[in-house]
Amino acid sequence: MPLLPVVLLVLAALLIVLLIVSTIWQFSVPVPFVPSSKAAVRAMVQAAELRSGQTILDLGAGDGRVLREACRACPGLRAIGVEAVPTTCFVGWLRSWCTRDGILWHRGSLFDYDVRHADCLFLYLYPKVMQQLLPKLDRELRPGARVVSHDFPFPDREPTTTYLVRARVRDHKIFVYDWPAKYQ
Ligand SMILES: C[S@@+](CC[C@H](N)C(=O)[O-])C[C@H]1O[C@@H](n2cnc3c(N)ncnc32)[C@H](O)[C@@H]1O
Repeated sequence: MPLLPVVLLVLAALLIVLLIVSTIWQFSVPVPFVPSSKAAVRAMVQAAELRSGQTILDLGAGDGRVLREACRACPGLRAIGVEAVPTTCFVGWLRSWCTRDGILWHRGSLFDYDVRHADCLFLYLYPKVMQQLLPKLDRELRPGARVVSHDFPFPDREPTTTYLVRARVRDHKIFVYDWPAKYQ
């Protein structure tokens, strides 16, 4: 039997298995992979006002597009993507490996990842998860750390700044918090 069709068949089977595993795994996380639009990504990175040498995290990094734009806009960052779904994390890692963008990847829950060393966090999570995340951020984030959240604010906390991003499909809001964020 010729080798090429066998290899292609095995690769196709692997791809199908990966897609099935990924789909099933998505149900186990509270927020699905919905990538930030280009306009929102640009606005988030601008709102972060990054400086070379800073450590930035995307909690629920998806394919890493926010971190990638941040590293492009501000060379010399230490960027870490935390992503729960293995296949999404693998896609992000693969893109980083192919483009040599320097992003580090951590596969696991954002609730278990220590954020003490972060200068800036990027978030695109649902309101319930934002609420659950608050006590952890209050415990771990160092004063002056910046949190940039796409579309969803923290309950009862006053953002330092809010930006409206006009886009073709729908408008977005970017909420910026400088820690410790004040109660409203
Ligand atoms: C709305 S997407 C945002 C992706 C990316 N940050 C962006 O802005 O394009 C949310 C991501 O968070 C991930 N996620 C959800 N719950 C998580 C958890 N507990 N720990 C780590 N990642 C999680 C999902 O798998 C998904 O990729």
